[in-house]
Amino acid sequence: MNLKITSFSEYKEVYDYSVREPENFWAEIADSFRWRKKWDKVLEWNFKEPSIKWFQGAKLNITENCLDRHLEKHGDRPAIIWEPNDPDEAHRVLSYKQLHDKVCQFGNVLRNNGVKKGDRVCIYLPMVPELAIAVLACARIGAIHSVVFGGFSAQSIADRINDAECSLVITADGGFRGAKDIPLKDIIDDALVQCRSVQKVIVLTRSRSPVSMIKGRDVWWEDEIKKVETQGNPPCPVEIMDAEDLLFILYTSGSTGKPKGVVHTCGGYMVYAGYTFANVFQYHPGEVYFCTADIGWITGHSYIVYGPLSQGATTVMFEGVPTYPSPSRYWDIVEKYKVNILYTAPTAIRSLMSFGTGPLEGKDLSSITKLGSVGEPINEEAWHWFDEKIGNKQAPIADTWWQTETGGIMISPIAGVTTTKPGYATLPLPGVQPVLVDENGKEIEGNGVSGNLCIKFPWPGMLRTTYGDHERCRQTYFSTYENMYFTGDGCLRDEDGYYKITGRVDDVLNVSGHRIGTAEVENAINMHTDVVESAVVGYPHEIKGQGVYAYVILGESVHDKELTRKNILQTVTRIIGAIAKPDKIQFVSGLPKTRSGKIMRRILRKIAEGETSNLGDTSTLLDPGVVDEIKAGAL
Ligand code: PRX
Repeated sequence: MNLKITSFSEYKEVYDYSVREPENFWAEIADSFRWRKKWDKVLEWNFKEPSIKWFQGAKLNITENCLDRHLEKHGDRPAIIWEPNDPDEAHRVLSYKQLHDKVCQFGNVLRNNGVKKGDRVCIYLPMVPELAIAVLACARIGAIHSVVFGGFSAQSIADRINDAECSLVITADGGFRGAKDIPLKDIIDDALVQCRSVQKVIVLTRSRSPVSMIKGRDVWWEDEIKKVETQGNPPCPVEIMDAEDLLFILYTSGSTGKPKGVVHTCGGYMVYAGYTFANVFQYHPGEVYFCTADIGWITGHSYIVYGPLSQGATTVMFEGVPTYPSPSRYWDIVEKYKVNILYTAPTAIRSLMSFGTGPLEGKDLSSITKLGSVGEPINEEAWHWFDEKIGNKQAPIADTWWQTETGGIMISPIAGVTTTKPGYATLPLPGVQPVLVDENGKEIEGNGVSGNLCIKFPWPGMLRTTYGDHERCRQTYFSTYENMYFTGDGCLRDEDGYYKITGRVDDVLNVSGHRIGTAEVENAINMHTDVVESAVVGYPHEIKGQGVYAYVILGESVHDKELTRKNILQTVTRIIGAIAKPDKIQFVSGLPKTRSGKIMRRILRKIAEGETSNLGDTSTLLDPGVVDEIKAGAL
């Protein structure tokens, strides 16, 4: 079968085939990749344990698929076009051949520094080409990368390093994001005070800010590259991996306090990232593709690095933010590189929308033929603005629904092939079997219905476990409903069978497309000395999608509440990172609790949403009076 679906009738045919004969379907897709040895068995699975194995017995290295296999015919094709934070700094273009050379060099650097197959490497870098190089170099030598987004605090990094027992960290002296300089190495130094497993730190020069370099532990990226060069640039043979060997760990928030290390494996992830990229964006050779995500999140892993490179695409990597130095920045980039496909997030669209059409004036966006959206529900207003102002009503919008755990896009229009509908992720990709279930786990059939979104059959890109704690994986995703993967999302299926994701049904917030667990934020707030207890909920936020609303009970000795408010924000920044800072903090004397001590979040959510008239039944509350006080003080 052809990797790419090119018409609506073909979509329907292929979809039916993928449900009827999933193993044959996926074997045909997998055939278009380069394997050192083909699989003995396509799939073995049960969702009870869970145990999911794709392409057992197969051998491969994902970097041969992302790099080596393109060299002969397309070695000079641009693989990565890098746009720096500062538009006056020179941009960089790395051809497939150059990227291959750099990945090989850095693979040798890692080997010289003692990294072996199966070792965990933490990557904390700004959005520079070396981030992609580091990721691919790990994959090449069989090391498991754990990329941590540059916005996380030292404490969050330490937790992640310790959970995975990383032996090496790759970072930079500093990074640039908009007008801010981020002291990455300082943050790593703070984190490493708590990390016993780390033996080496490789530091890339980026900001030229002063950093401490610890003898025996810290080495410069550039010096290590020179050593490889003086060794005559030996080839960097790939580590031959089993399909089910670990490729990477990526931490994500859930409804409990501690982030989980989602585990993806080599064979299935590769097939899924490549297949979904080729199809959803209908990528044609020569097109310039720009995904605005950060490689610190799954979108960057799958759709800046692995997906596009596995298909020989040209992928634009941007170091900065959409509003720096002006809200025209994305449009300048589109014009400069004649971007054909733009994949971004609703929060960025809403933020840019708020500047009006001024920043678009005189910008040539005519190169754009396809658009994508990811990370959170896209409201209709933002959808139409994206369609009209950016796509000139000519570029189909792929509203792609998926998760860190799914590895790649699950429900989405196929650009120009299947129909779009504002606010809808529309139809599942072939190979994906979504179902809606009610609270009791009963499948809700038919159209014009809503329920909780589950997936009832495995797909190659799905998570295999949560690192170091398989039971947690089982409980979180496979125990709520028997024999199904539970996404944590609510969903509606309209009369035409089109899916619309309505948001999380668990205690997870989605702030600017970033997943944040309410329990995680509460734990951070509670660490402040003056805090007795707190409860965190989300509320609708015009730009961020959701904002963080914290109800906080303070101890009696607090005199300066304004200062305490700022101190709490500082505490959250220290413990998690600035991305989790509450937008609103309301001090309260009590929280609405049931007699068994459970906080009734439903009430708190309603008050945060500004809906104070219809709070439902409050008779089971221990102290119903507290609700009036909270209502009166709502922000
Ligand atoms: O609630 C859904 C929302 O983002 C969650 C996954 O977050 P994360 O693992 O960080 O991955 C984000 C990038 C894939 C989902 O459970 N979400 C993601 N895409 C959409 C979405 N909600 C609505 N529409 C989408 N297109």
